[in-house]
Amino acid sequence: MTVMGSSSSDQKKPTILVTGANGQLGKELRQLEKSWPQYQLLFLSREDLPIHHFELVRRYFEAVHPDYLINCAAYTTVDKAESERDLAYQINAEAVGVLAAICHQQQCRLIHISTDYVFDGTATRPYREEDPCAPRSVYGASKWEGEKLAMQYDPDCIIVRTSWVYSSFGKNFVKTILRLLQERPSLSVVNDQVGSPTYAADLAEALLSIVSSKSWKSGIYNYSNSGNISWFDFAVAIAKLQQSTVPIQGISTDQYPTAAHRPAYSVLDTSKINQTFHVPIKDWRESLAHCLSFCTFNT
Ligand SMILES: NC(=O)c1ccc[n+]([C@@H]2O[C@H](COP(=O)([O-])OP(=O)(O)OC[C@H]3O[C@@H](n4cnc5c(N)ncnc54)[C@H](OP(=O)(O)O)[C@@H]3O)[C@@H](O)[C@H]2O)c1
Repeated sequence: MTVMGSSSSDQKKPTILVTGANGQLGKELRQLEKSWPQYQLLFLSREDLPIHHFELVRRYFEAVHPDYLINCAAYTTVDKAESERDLAYQINAEAVGVLAAICHQQQCRLIHISTDYVFDGTATRPYREEDPCAPRSVYGASKWEGEKLAMQYDPDCIIVRTSWVYSSFGKNFVKTILRLLQERPSLSVVNDQVGSPTYAADLAEALLSIVSSKSWKSGIYNYSNSGNISWFDFAVAIAKLQQSTVPIQGISTDQYPTAAHRPAYSVLDTSKINQTFHVPIKDWRESLAHCLSFCTFNT
């Protein structure tokens, strides 16, 4: 097991365990490690700590006693989840319940990440945390079940719902469009699904701000960049920033069928996290420009 970032001088610092550390969000948290020297961050990939191996998780917590857990581990292949229901529920729900129970028992503060796909997408104004959930995909339903188990077994936990996550790491819409702009003479992108992109680096910063905030207030919080756009608008903005002349046309969801249903509208109201933890909400354009200008696009 590789535990990154530990040294003897770190012994007295509060420890933050990051599970799913090789994902987009996990890697962005790793990028921030040096900016948060007051914490000892422990990064565990799926290989280091598969969260659905409950006995391994229990033993790890008993040995290390982390002060905080940021659970970035998740089953995230939205379409595949439709045919891998049991696996999606095992990782996104059952394992989250076990993590929450262990955190509660060990007084480890848990931040768990959830999704806008817990909503059905029929709203006409940004979703607030207390709005009713009605997921219409296996992925969304498994994540909602994970939220409920997290709160049941660790009422002190914080759940952060986010949407349309991208980063220079991993697989995401921005990287797909960058590749397609190189490969194709023209692109067609869905223009009837509206949401808010989230730069994983901003989300990572927000999560560490919550950890360092003086007041821990359990509950559900929405976090995304500000603005509401369609996937088409997002693709056009990416192309513009790349000074690409590849034509992009808008198409409807019906013209681009996928195994999983996706919400037509999933903009999140982020005022609660902003007011409670003073987490800044950056404009999606600013964050996209930052990501495209300053990042090396690694896999
Ligand atoms: N991506 C989005 O657009 C989006 C939108 C809304 C919410 N979210 C939520 O945001 C969180 C972070 O997402 P992300 O975009 O960073 O996802 P990601 O890039 O797919 O990362 C997820 C990580 O979890 C790991 N993992 C999967 N099963 C595991 C297991 N059983 N034990 C331990 N680790 C496991 C994966 O390992 P491998 O690297 O080995 O596959 C991967 O590194 C997730 O909770 C996700 O549901 C994401």
